[in-house]
Amino acid sequence: MSLADDREALRQAPVGVFDSGVGGLTVAREIMRQIPNEKIIYFGDTARVPYGSKSKETITRYARQIVRFLQEQRVKAIVAACNTASAYALDEIEGEIDIPIIGVVKPGARVAAESTKNGRVGVIGTEGTIGSRIYSTYIKEINPEIQVMGKACPLFVPLVEEGLWQDPVTDEIAKRYLGGLIDSEIDTLILGCTHYPLIRSTLGRIIGEGVTLVNPAYETARELKELLEREQLLNEKKQELGMNCYRFYVSDMAEKFQSFANSILKYGILSARKIDIEHY
Ligand code: DGL
Repeated sequence: MSLADDREALRQAPVGVFDSGVGGLTVAREIMRQIPNEKIIYFGDTARVPYGSKSKETITRYARQIVRFLQEQRVKAIVAACNTASAYALDEIEGEIDIPIIGVVKPGARVAAESTKNGRVGVIGTEGTIGSRIYSTYIKEINPEIQVMGKACPLFVPLVEEGLWQDPVTDEIAKRYLGGLIDSEIDTLILGCTHYPLIRSTLGRIIGEGVTLVNPAYETARELKELLEREQLLNEKKQELGMNCYRFYVSDMAEKFQSFANSILKYGILSARKIDIEHY
C-alpha cells in the first residue's frame, strides 16, 4: 500500500468515544450531527457507573483500560465524553498514547470564558468534576479575572436516567441546586456533566433568560472536527449513514443501554455488545 492509501485508511478509521455510561451519548449525538461522515465506536462503562463519586485514582485506572480497548479497535482519535474522566484522567493519558485524545472540559471552559460579559461563570457537574476545580483552572488560564462558581448536582444524573426530564421533582431539585448561582449573578452557566443537556430547558427556565448556557458536548464536537482537519484525519468520503457507521460497547446491562440510546439518538440502535473491560 502506498503512503496515500495508508493515510486514506487512517481517515476511514472510526473515532472512539467513551463515557461512564449513557450520558456520553449526548456527545456522540453532537459528533453525528456535526461530522456525519465519521464512524464512531462508543464505549459506556455501565458496570462501573457512576464516575462522579469516585476517586481520581480509580477513574484514571478505568479510563486507561477503556483507552486500551479503543486502541485495540484501531480508532484514529479518542473523545473522553465524560466530564469526570476528562477532569481526572486526561492529562496523564494524553502523554501515554500516540493518537489524539480530547475531553469535554477544555472546549466548554473556552466557550464560557468567551461568552461571559460580567466575568461571573457558574459550573454544575458531578462531585468529582466540581471538586477538581478543573473548569475554574482552565477558565482562569484564559482570563484570571473571571470568577467561577461551582455547584455539584449529584441528583441530576439519576433524574435524567429515570426519564424525569420535565417533571416537577426535577424542577424542585434544580431550584435548590441553582439558588446560590442565581444569587451570585452569573451570566454564563456551564452544563458540566454529560446528562445535563437533556434537562437543558428546565435548567434554562430556572436559572433565567439572561444566562447563557454552555453545552460542552456541542463545543467538543466542534473541537473534534477542527482537530481532525488539522491532523488531516477528517473523513471526507461520504458514508452510507446509519447504524453500520456506529458501534456500541458496554461493560454491563446492554439492553438497558440500548433502550436509553434509542430515546436520544436519531438512529435506532441495532445492538450494544457487552465486553469485559477489566480484562484490558
Ligand atoms: N458522565 C459523568 C460526567 O459527565 C456523569 C455520570 C457519572 O457520574 O458517571 O461527569
